Amino acid sequence: MMKKIGVLTSGGDAPGMNAAVRAVVRSAIRRGMEVYGIRRGYNGLITGDVFEMNQRSVSSIIQRGGTLLYTARCPEFRTEEGVLKAKEKCVELGIEGLVVIGGDGSFRGAADLSAHGILCVGLPGTIDNDIACTEYTIGYDTAMNTAMEMVDKLRDTAHSHDRCSVVEVMGRNAGYIALNAGIACGATYVITKEVPYNLDDVAKKMLETRKTGKQNFIIIVSEGVGHSEEIAKILEEKTGIESRATILGHVQRGGSPTVRDRVVASEMGYYAVNLLSQGIGNRVVGMQGGKIVDFDIQEALTMKKPFEEELYKISDEISI
Ligand code: ADP
Ligand code: F6P
Repeated sequence: MMKKIGVLTSGGDAPGMNAAVRAVVRSAIRRGMEVYGIRRGYNGLITGDVFEMNQRSVSSIIQRGGTLLYTARCPEFRTEEGVLKAKEKCVELGIEGLVVIGGDGSFRGAADLSAHGILCVGLPGTIDNDIACTEYTIGYDTAMNTAMEMVDKLRDTAHSHDRCSVVEVMGRNAGYIALNAGIACGATYVITKEVPYNLDDVAKKMLETRKTGKQNFIIIVSEGVGHSEEIAKILEEKTGIESRATILGHVQRGGSPTVRDRVVASEMGYYAVNLLSQGIGNRVVGMQGGKIVDFDIQEALTMKKPFEEELYKISDEISI
């Protein structure tokens, strides 16, 4: 029976991480385990910046964005020396298992630490929804809703001025936020890395729809594509329609998590502790067909996630 586990958040923060930490802490306590919170990702593990948590340590955090454990990127942990330091710290503190809430990078670290005998379970926490083994990542729903609210506001002013609003949304290498916010906001065009695009086609669609009376336009650009200022300028030149670019940026990472993020984070946190309590590690928790499942970390890291081609087609067909 595992007696002591740790929990950390790593990589970019995401709304719902606190709900996941809460679920981990309380599920572990329920099973008679001690839980240590580790601050600032793998940094805290290397330096020993840890504190014991109890039921009350996670009171009133389920509704809060960000992460009470803080998060960071830790270059040292990418080295064998860094992993060994972290392992020694775990041994010194008696931490036998670890829940790592983060993205693919954080899972690579978790695999390294598992190979050194500290059982790790990864929980997918990132607004990008770019983790292949899961159809859903903690933070995604909140980020999409924030993007949607912001684009709705931009629509108001684009409407008043008969303008085109080019909006860049987050998603380092993935267009999921772009596509979903795009369809939810009635964007005329969604530009993502996954689908080849041509600005002549975008301009053509704007002009064609203008002929039927459309007077304002939303063009969503995924962060991975970038150049939103330039895209706005080119579209204005090609169409004669006044255009403005807005980069939504980190506002999409903040805010109180939605119901979906709170519920999924709670389910996944609970599931992770169940694995550890059975002595199972080197796993990543995910969602498939709406069910919580788990995978070997290496296997999870080699999986590929398909883009939502059908949704893209629907968005394109109905935005006329
Ligand atoms: P995310 O977890 O969101 O993908 P990063 O890629 O920045 O974010 O990774 C977060 C942290 O995970 C890094 O700062 C590092 O400490 C650790 N990490 C990332 N990649 C590796 C790797 N290949 N091996 C070991 N640790 C890694
Ligand atoms: O992975 C989440 C994410 O918000 C990406 O969408 C974005 O590219 C990146 O993190 C930004 O990272 P940082 O906060 O380090 O600038």
